[in-house]
Amino acid sequence: MPQNNPDVIHLEDYRVPDFLIEHVELHVDLGDGGTRVGSRLTLRRNGEHGRPLVLHGEGLELLSIALDGKSLAAGRYRLDDETLTVEGLGAEAVLETECRIDPDGNTALEGLYRSNGTFCTQCEAEGFRKITWYLDRPDVMARFRTTIVGDRTTQPVMLSNGNPVASGTTGDNRHWVTWEDPFPKPSYLFALVAGDLAVVEDSFTTRSGREVALRIYVEHGNEDRCGHAMTALKHAMAWDERVYGREYDLDIFMIVAVSDFNMGAMENKGLNVFNAKYILAKPETATDVDFDGIESVVAHEYFHNWTGNRVTCRDWFQLTLKEGLTVFRDQQFSADMNSAAVKRIADVQRLRAAQFPEDGGPLAHPIQPQSYIEINNFYTATVYEKGAEVIRMIHRLLGTDGFRKGSDLYFERHDGQAVTTEDFVAAMEDANDADLGQFRRWYVQAGTPRLICSGDYDAADGSYLLTVRQETPATPGQPEKAPLHMPFAVGLIGRDGADLPLRLAGENSAEAGTRVLQLREAESRFRFVDIPERPVASLLRGFSAPVRLEFAQPAEDLAFRMAHDSDDFNRWEAAQELQNKVLLGLVADRRAGRPLVLPDMLAEALGTALDDDGADPSLLALMLTLPGEVMLAQHMEVIDVEAIHDVREFAVKALAERLRDRLLARYRACHAAARPGFDGASMAARHLQNACLAYLSQLDDIGRETALAQYRERRTMTETMAALARIAASDWPERDEALADFHAAWRNDPLVIDKWFTVQATAARADTLEHVLALAGHEDFTLRNPNRVRALIGAFASANPTAFHRADGAGYDFVAERILALDASNPQVAARLIAPFGQWRRYDKARQERMLNQLKRIVSQPGLSKDVREVASKSLN
Ligand code: PHE
Ligand code: ZN
Repeated sequence: MPQNNPDVIHLEDYRVPDFLIEHVELHVDLGDGGTRVGSRLTLRRNGEHGRPLVLHGEGLELLSIALDGKSLAAGRYRLDDETLTVEGLGAEAVLETECRIDPDGNTALEGLYRSNGTFCTQCEAEGFRKITWYLDRPDVMARFRTTIVGDRTTQPVMLSNGNPVASGTTGDNRHWVTWEDPFPKPSYLFALVAGDLAVVEDSFTTRSGREVALRIYVEHGNEDRCGHAMTALKHAMAWDERVYGREYDLDIFMIVAVSDFNMGAMENKGLNVFNAKYILAKPETATDVDFDGIESVVAHEYFHNWTGNRVTCRDWFQLTLKEGLTVFRDQQFSADMNSAAVKRIADVQRLRAAQFPEDGGPLAHPIQPQSYIEINNFYTATVYEKGAEVIRMIHRLLGTDGFRKGSDLYFERHDGQAVTTEDFVAAMEDANDADLGQFRRWYVQAGTPRLICSGDYDAADGSYLLTVRQETPATPGQPEKAPLHMPFAVGLIGRDGADLPLRLAGENSAEAGTRVLQLREAESRFRFVDIPERPVASLLRGFSAPVRLEFAQPAEDLAFRMAHDSDDFNRWEAAQELQNKVLLGLVADRRAGRPLVLPDMLAEALGTALDDDGADPSLLALMLTLPGEVMLAQHMEVIDVEAIHDVREFAVKALAERLRDRLLARYRACHAAARPGFDGASMAARHLQNACLAYLSQLDDIGRETALAQYRERRTMTETMAALARIAASDWPERDEALADFHAAWRNDPLVIDKWFTVQATAARADTLEHVLALAGHEDFTLRNPNRVRALIGAFASANPTAFHRADGAGYDFVAERILALDASNPQVAARLIAPFGQWRRYDKARQERMLNQLKRIVSQPGLSKDVREVASKSLN
């Protein structure tokens, strides 16, 4: 990108708005042949200046315009593709406009669009300008009053933010309703929904005794799939009161589930709009992973009411202010509702799978980016997931009470304001008298730091010297990196498996357990004294910082930690490290033409874990599951797609043979213990049951039998899908029949049919691409539904490395072609499919060239969207 590209928006160019909007009155007339939007803006000049009013607006057909009650002649305003300019405003002014928009033709799903007949809006980040002319920036906060007019038969339900204050009918079978939101808000939090929807109702009494009506709106027939979302919402409301002292502030909280949605969900004030995937669930249709996803997304959007809505972002460079913080809050919440260790592992897996590659590739950016072309491209794993890790580190450094003091001060100072990440950090500092000066670098420095550690035990004086060097690799535009301040949680384990008391040289007393050290320098040394025997070090406990730990620990120590580490996260991590070590060793053997032999040590360590009846079955399931191909690839200089795949398959099969009886016993016990439903014990049992099945299905005799029986039993979707995944990847004669049977059973259930597409797109088979090509032509496939696109194309490109990276390049060709086709209708979703191509540097020369050719093909397409152009051209670097 050239430096002076006028499309590039820079943080350093931020200026306060020229005008403020005090009040907005909207009149939205939903009709056939287009929707008419009337708007009445009460404006105030912001400061002493003579600049004109420049409003954002895209794709709007102007019907009328008036200033202070007088219709404006053509020469008094200027209209172009993206703005409406009006000169000669006084210090206070009222601007009225009327325009026509076309929700039915809106395939980008931004602004006002229709999903299965229901009108709905998506305004973050810059969608409101597709509804009417406005100062569409988050630092302009206004009070909204919205009147919706619609058909009584097709739009019996008409919703917007706040409270309904008036309604009536107008003849012609039409009716209207007016909503008023008492809280000033930026336009990105505006929402409107109209359609024929069913409602599921409940209520919540806040701790100050106010009763809040809770309503979930869904398409008719889905009323029996809202229970889990409703329970999650009530839990989230109570949790935010208890943990953050935050109460809900309106009398109604509404959620609407829609089928066509670009992202997961949206926190519009009082009227959250959700991708149906994150609301609708019952055990027959949704997996346990879906249930967990619903709980966390419902909570996430609810938590935004304070972190995002009451206190919002000054500009979009501050996105992590609301997203990093709110992800951290939803992670804390889910950890409290379920197993904290299992939740932490899932969060770290996600960070490593999505954020680490981003941070090490051409699209690397700090959690607070310095520039962008299309803001939609910055709803990234870095802003969200790494952003949450940065907040988590502040929490660790200040402690639970200190963090709460900081958040209280943040809300007290900034309620009703649009602020910056700096305001958040300053509140944390001021409330704790802490110094986060160096810590601020996390906001502006991209790249995943490496922590290179070594430990030396000195038997003569009974001391253990821990040396930690930190190094952050260069990222685009940031060749030099400065050392970061981070919490580094460690423990030293004695021969009996218990944590040793830790005392640093110069300190008076020791404490057993985990110790949080602070790293600030490029190299730090810590000398622990009174260590009676050579300890086994457990470093970066709980993943206390988002880094890559490099610590050469012998396999025996890893196996020991798998059995004894008092930190559950690190028990799992030790298993992962041991498995990485073994699998990468096998990859080297295969590349050197040596025969593959599974080391006894791994089978023994996993066997010991399987024997531990007292362990959390979910944690055990995670420990048993070998790192995936995408994870293993991260450890290779040049990724050898085939070797990784073959070696992993070999290891799973070899382990299945070695551990057969114990796997089978555990499988049966879990199957007997699990009950359908969302109770922790049953979910954990199913998790372990399916982890065992993944091994057992490699055994020709018992595997096929077990997988088919589990599939045919149709007990819960979690079990059905785990079995179908094994069947879809197999050559068993029942394969085609099972896939056809599943489709026939669920053909009217889009969320389940998505799973049917994904299970085939991710099957590890030589002919997967051919199947995927056929599926792309299936009558149920459409590029118009983002979930369906992600289910087939997204899953194929990001979760099936051997098929996507097929040596002949046909996988690349298929995905690039769909990206181009999709760009014409939905640029935002198209741009998100490009990420796997951005990893081209990690592959061999032949693949590099093929991936680059596809990126070049994309960039050279005429009429490309800003979204796709930005990601594809940056990916070439
Ligand atoms: N703000 C939403 C969330 O994280 C995400 C989102 C962004 C949804 C842009 C739609 C469009 O909670
Ligand atoms: Zn969010």
